[in-house]
Amino acid sequence: MIQIAPSILSANFAKLAAEVKEVEEAGASVIHVDVMDGHFVPNITMGPIVVEALRPETTLPLDVHLMIENPDAYIEQFAKAGADWISVHVEACRHLHRTIQLIRSFGVKPGVVLNPHTPIESIQHILEDIDFVLFMTVNPGFGGQKFISSVVQKVESLSKIIEERGLNIAIEIDGGINAETIVPCVKAGATIFVAGSAIYNKEDRALALKEIKDAGEA
Ligand code: DX5
Ligand code: ZN
Repeated sequence: MIQIAPSILSANFAKLAAEVKEVEEAGASVIHVDVMDGHFVPNITMGPIVVEALRPETTLPLDVHLMIENPDAYIEQFAKAGADWISVHVEACRHLHRTIQLIRSFGVKPGVVLNPHTPIESIQHILEDIDFVLFMTVNPGFGGQKFISSVVQKVESLSKIIEERGLNIAIEIDGGINAETIVPCVKAGATIFVAGSAIYNKEDRALALKEIKDAGEA
């Protein structure tokens, strides 16, 4: 089963609730919320107040992707605002195990994110503690970038490890996903796909979402 997680980064922020409803009705499984601080990544987006405002507008889980320095300082706020999943970059966490426990302590599903160049060895010893791994297939910071295909090898390797160790971890992919790039990622074992520009920059969002999902399930 393929889950599509539209990223509201490419939505119209002036009518965010309607933008979220539109993809919910079109069959989205999760809403992906990109949080950027202008330090960890060269862009600034949204904080907990946006999550709080969106929470009553959808029944879908809110997947909060933290691209920020010192995520520990903000996890409680995002959890209380209504985040269902929170993922943190391994590159931004000095004490990753502590951060993951902190996320879980609020009843939120924890995930770790790897930048395109970060090896999967960096998360070998945290796999038992997390619910999902998010692979970046672009350099984080902006929507609409080109898919970096070399990441697919890392996805394959992690899928093998997950299977060998009998772990219950989902693999999510973020960056440059469309009806073509989803295909090798599904083959490699991923099941959750973030798509920003490939959905929100299209006139017919429902059709765009369906095409991506169908391509992934074919
Ligand atoms: C990039 C963000 C992505 C972004 C994806 O830093 O993490 O979630 O919204 O956008 P597309 O799908 O356009 O690459
Ligand atoms: Zn993201």
